[in-house]
Amino acid sequence: MRQESPIPSQSIDEDDFLASVRAGLRQHPKSIPPKYFYDAHGSQLFDLICTTPEYYPTRTETAILERHGAEMAEMTGSACTLIELGSGSATKTPLLLRHLSDDAVYVPIDICAPHLRNSTQRLQAMFPAMKMQPLCADYHQLPERVIRHRAGRRQVVFFPGSTIGNCTPDGAVTLLKSVAKLVGPGGGLLIGVDAKKSSAILNAAYNDAAGHTAAFNLNLLTRMQRELGAQLDAAQFAHHAFYNEMHGRIEMHLVSQCRQTIGMNGESFEFEQGESIHTENSYKYSTQEFKHLARKAGWHLQSTWHDEDELFNVHYFTLSAAEPLKLAR
Ligand code: TRP
Repeated sequence: MRQESPIPSQSIDEDDFLASVRAGLRQHPKSIPPKYFYDAHGSQLFDLICTTPEYYPTRTETAILERHGAEMAEMTGSACTLIELGSGSATKTPLLLRHLSDDAVYVPIDICAPHLRNSTQRLQAMFPAMKMQPLCADYHQLPERVIRHRAGRRQVVFFPGSTIGNCTPDGAVTLLKSVAKLVGPGGGLLIGVDAKKSSAILNAAYNDAAGHTAAFNLNLLTRMQRELGAQLDAAQFAHHAFYNEMHGRIEMHLVSQCRQTIGMNGESFEFEQGESIHTENSYKYSTQEFKHLARKAGWHLQSTWHDEDELFNVHYFTLSAAEPLKLAR
């Protein structure tokens, strides 16, 4: 990345935020889309969550990439274009980039511009010869035209962190279809997916003792105050996260601790005591479940890597049913 060239940006603006919050609070049950967690402060809090002892996905996926990164790069081809969705701090990315050649191109996409800038600078310093083309965007609106396609280079989307679990299953199929369109025939998808497991482990992971997940959830309310002038007292809401076994998902809520009203932009939103704003889901999938889900979007499973306890899976999918050609190193 050349420092002087600004990062192309399609980042969300205040109008989107206001419209989404307003629409979400008018609904019953109330909800707010999770992408608004990730302002500069929220992105920092998220990094803290990933370091807690209870939040096993980050360190488990990191260990899988550490151990099998070379094999993964062999499947993607070492000179591919690697497009990372929701790259954030991109702490796991070097575990893959170190096995790619200098001919590879890295395209990190994230909604948080400061995070994107810092992480791209850090990666560029580690891999000075590799081309990097950061893009500030919401990956739910994949910006096909902004990514410079290169003929003969396999396009591979890297989507770690089980972020796909934050979509509903239908939403995940839609997103994976747009990923298929983005990478085109011959393209690949390397994706991290959290597995189903005991609710004790899951509940602990989303209720860390240090309180970072709670702070992350509540930051949404302070962001509404700061950016939208919402009149509310964040102390009157509580973080609530639990595993909903029937749906196979963690649900995250902000629960009103009393009867209250949030004023925003001339409108008022009433809350009963105990009424919640549903802020996020995190779906958990067995390999079979996820294989079938991805198949609906046109993807064929080629390989799965996991830790010993099968807490977490990393899958490689391609758009053609055949084994992927191993590209020359
Ligand atoms: N996608 C990851 C997960 O669902 C990370 C994540 C998103 C997360 N939002 C979160 C982790 C909120 C903890 C709390 O696990």
